[in-house]
Amino acid sequence: MNYENLKLRTDENGITWVGIDVAGSNVNTMGTPVLDEFAALLDRFNKEPPTAVVFHSLKSSGFIAGANIQEFEAIGKTNDVVAAEKLIKRGYDLYERLAAVKYPTLALIKGFCMGGGLELAMACRYRVAVDEPGTRMGLPEVILGILPAWGGVKRLPQLLGAPAGFDLMLSGKTVDAKKAKKLGLVDEAVPPRIMGNTVAGVLKALPAPRQLGFVQNLMTNGLLRGYVASQAKKQVAKRARPEHYPAPYAIIDLWQKYNGDVHKPSATESCSMQALLSHSTAKNLIRVFSLREKLKAQAKGIDFKAKHVHVVGAGVMGGDIAAWCALRGITVTLQDLDASKIAPAIKRAADMYKKRLRDERRIRDAMDRLQPDITGDGAKTADVIIEAIVENLAVKQKVFAELEAKAKPGAVLATNTSSIPLEHIATALKDPSRLVGIHFFNPVAQMMLVEIISGAQTDADIARKATAFVDQIDKLPLACKSAPGFWVNRILAPYLTEAMRCLDEGITPETLDEAALRFGMPMGPVELADVVGLDVCAAVGQVVGGEEALKNFPKKLSAKLESNDLGKKTEKGFYVWVSGKPQKGTAGVVPAGLIERLITPMLNEANKALAEGVVTDSDLADAGAIFGCGFAPFTGGPFNYQRSLTTR
Ligand code: NAI
Repeated sequence: MNYENLKLRTDENGITWVGIDVAGSNVNTMGTPVLDEFAALLDRFNKEPPTAVVFHSLKSSGFIAGANIQEFEAIGKTNDVVAAEKLIKRGYDLYERLAAVKYPTLALIKGFCMGGGLELAMACRYRVAVDEPGTRMGLPEVILGILPAWGGVKRLPQLLGAPAGFDLMLSGKTVDAKKAKKLGLVDEAVPPRIMGNTVAGVLKALPAPRQLGFVQNLMTNGLLRGYVASQAKKQVAKRARPEHYPAPYAIIDLWQKYNGDVHKPSATESCSMQALLSHSTAKNLIRVFSLREKLKAQAKGIDFKAKHVHVVGAGVMGGDIAAWCALRGITVTLQDLDASKIAPAIKRAADMYKKRLRDERRIRDAMDRLQPDITGDGAKTADVIIEAIVENLAVKQKVFAELEAKAKPGAVLATNTSSIPLEHIATALKDPSRLVGIHFFNPVAQMMLVEIISGAQTDADIARKATAFVDQIDKLPLACKSAPGFWVNRILAPYLTEAMRCLDEGITPETLDEAALRFGMPMGPVELADVVGLDVCAAVGQVVGGEEALKNFPKKLSAKLESNDLGKKTEKGFYVWVSGKPQKGTAGVVPAGLIERLITPMLNEANKALAEGVVTDSDLADAGAIFGCGFAPFTGGPFNYQRSLTTR
């Protein structure tokens, strides 16, 4: 048989190497045609058993990114339960066959290995991971509102022990090669130069598969299974309600009741994949996944890559923006008024690199890329210059006049301002068309969205370069028009203001936050205001609300500002903060209509902003609201939510 997606060769040791190279795509995904070829390959190996088989990727993008999400999306849209069942059971049965073969099998994992890709690797007898920055493994299905249906629910706990297996499956988080080795997910984690020898060594030695220790075995296969499942449910309940996010509960049930066998539950049982796929949450989360790709696609085809970024202002934002860019492999110069202002940013960067990179050499390389620059000479050679100094028009204008004189032709000049119209800052430039907004959110390392702000004067080519740069540093760019609050703050402001009015009426912070959590927000509005900073909230409220906001300024907020109780950063706002946590009392009864009261101003503002062209389409705007301010992801964003209200 001729394979379209698989390339076979036999090496000098008689080992068959199956190179996965899905036709017509930059990444390998396990769509139906690929599953068909795998099935044919297993038939062939059945007839002529090979000495040993290595599965590896011929793509530079990684091993396998997962199942083909479009196939699941199509099934979700048409509610085709029969097609869903076929696809799910097909992959499950295929991997069962692979796991049962007599000849040794090994997955060589280099780069991304997710979902159906990791399930394939786990069905092999051995796994060797290549220890390099791009290698990551995980089962992210829960993030899409579904479950790892191709054997993951059974095999991950079996390899890692149930508690560690649940930790990965229920969060969707990924691990690198070293962590995977430590957990027992892979047999070896080795640098690229010895991967070939390692594979040959493993297949020569044929070590006995790793066994779980006594206690882990008890928790995974023995008496403690029920206890582990109930503990896992308790943990999940702290962050996800079953009515909003049924998938993590389904994963636990499928494991506990049926040991991950997708044939066992009936299609209507809540732990079946069919039930999850027909739930609105999976439909919305799969759509959000596609929207994320759509945000990224805005950067496709733009021929721009920054080698050097210069950041002016080493405060909360500038310091963290600089650290993030250096983490992503870019040389960064960081300028501030004096060295004492830069030192805390370098310290924060070192802490972040230690946590994220762990490897000494990689930490040192990242630190080397981040260079303090008091004189600001870095501006002369930078491809992107980002200003993140105090929110003051005159100071920003002065800094930009100096930066323009130094910058090389074609360099992107960007401001991180949250409230000053770009057109005003641009008047300081000889060529105002060079100025664009690159608006990051706080905390920089955690917030995925970055707004690309075009003022009336911004050159489209500069905005495109800014978009490519944001994609380069693995953030999600959202194009916005320069208008008060841009997109995210514009819709957030009326929501937070309404919460402040409710406080003035005597509703407690706890009750307001509880109402929002019940709706599905990751954090309530009062806690969010405390986190953002009450001074910042007041400023944004005024920028978006204008004169009207000033006239009706919330009284309790005003009192907090006067006493300098600004929220988390001063350890006191509407809540008292101890060790970074708000000290909350019990919520009162949530009055009927409270959440509608909070959400409606946000939805109205979203509609107005879209009509004004602040964002170009409602899909991107939905994604922006989810990735920029955490709008309840399972609803699919403010516009999708409004559509769902009219079709109910
Ligand atoms: P910050 O007060 O923490 O830091 C500002 C830094 O700029 C200070 O280190 C200061 O020494 C430095 N600076 C002032 N004048 C300078 C000059 N002439 N040359 C070099 N450095 C100078 O401020 P933060 O919060 O980092 O805000 C910076 C910008 O980012 C502002 O435009 C703000 O609106 C925007 N922003 C802030 C967010 C936040 O949550 N804090 C979120 C998004 C945007």
